Amino acid sequence: MFDALESLPADAILGLIAEYNDDTRAEKIDLGVGVYRTADGQTPVLAAVKAAERRILETQDSKAYLGTAGNPAFNASMQSLTFADVEQSERLVTVQAPGGSGALRVAAALLLAADREASVWVSDPTWNNHVPLLGGAGLTLRPYPYYDTERHVIRTEAMLDALSDVPESSIVLFHACCHNPSGLDPSDDEWRAITDLVVERGLLPFIDMAYQGFARGLDEDAFAVRHMAARVPEMIVSNSCSKNFGLYRDRVGALSVLARDADAAAVIQSQLSSIARTIYSMPPDHGGAVVATILGDEALRAEWSSELATMRARITEMRALLHDALKGAAPERDFSHLVRATGMFCFLGLSAEQVEALKRDHAVYMVGSSRINVAGVTADNVDHLASAIASVL
Ligand code: LMR
Repeated sequence: MFDALESLPADAILGLIAEYNDDTRAEKIDLGVGVYRTADGQTPVLAAVKAAERRILETQDSKAYLGTAGNPAFNASMQSLTFADVEQSERLVTVQAPGGSGALRVAAALLLAADREASVWVSDPTWNNHVPLLGGAGLTLRPYPYYDTERHVIRTEAMLDALSDVPESSIVLFHACCHNPSGLDPSDDEWRAITDLVVERGLLPFIDMAYQGFARGLDEDAFAVRHMAARVPEMIVSNSCSKNFGLYRDRVGALSVLARDADAAAVIQSQLSSIARTIYSMPPDHGGAVVATILGDEALRAEWSSELATMRARITEMRALLHDALKGAAPERDFSHLVRATGMFCFLGLSAEQVEALKRDHAVYMVGSSRINVAGVTADNVDHLASAIASVL
């Protein structure tokens, strides 16, 4: 049966975890997969998560099935975290999903159920896994211009031109904040211009929000979602709780669909239920229960939000630290985009060969595109990192 199968290369991002773990060099630095790290390189369980877990352990009295949409309290709290005061609740459907990736996969199935030929426009570049995940589900993906690799800025004009040219009613995938991989997001004014175009052309916005709270703050990072939700008849939003709740391995995310009206919302809810049932039946409960417990309790929510602010501040600090170290180590090169970007990622602007040399000769790990996870930078490793980068330029 399986003789015709060939071995596949490891995933460009997740494959780095094993490579890094196998490296025995003491000075190794992991700037690969997007997980938050503290000043001593750890990814601890958040205190608010630990407290919620203790509470769940003491009070949970059943592990019986919850249903295809997961935990209703989780869905309600994620809806308000995402959309806040956008008064669309009768038009909004939110279901729990196995991580942000699971939410994207369910969204792909919904789009394909509506249109077997559906295609989605994605930013060039976009998250490494968007293409295999959405493409593998059966959607056709097409790029729109986003990042200028020479000047390290967003190509706003080219993006708006391209979106003016795509067929009417096209589906367009946006990153709500902390664009992965570039770390550069449109300003609020640029989002307003994008939204005007979306409305004018009848485009369907599909917003991936995997880093809410990592750029400017929980509400600020939801600007694009809320601004569009108040103006468009239909939209899709996928959330991940991997990063902002640090629940990476628990696989917790949400998918929200804004429908034309309450009747359409009911139809979509039934479709999402059937899609979940035919892929994984229902999402794993634990992470959703943790998030629902935190968001439903004032004290835990405040504790979580302050832990999130600490993560955000540390990343901003590390951006400045690396930028300054590079200014000293490679003064001829402009790395100012490091401090203009937000969230975990940005590009160093290196070739695949330079990235390979950093790994081979300096034990510095990053994705082949030279995307780095800035959370992997520390006061202890920044000098080694900056001189390693300078040496391969
Ligand atoms: C990343 O881009 O590193 C994260 O989103 C983790 C992943 O699954 O790729």
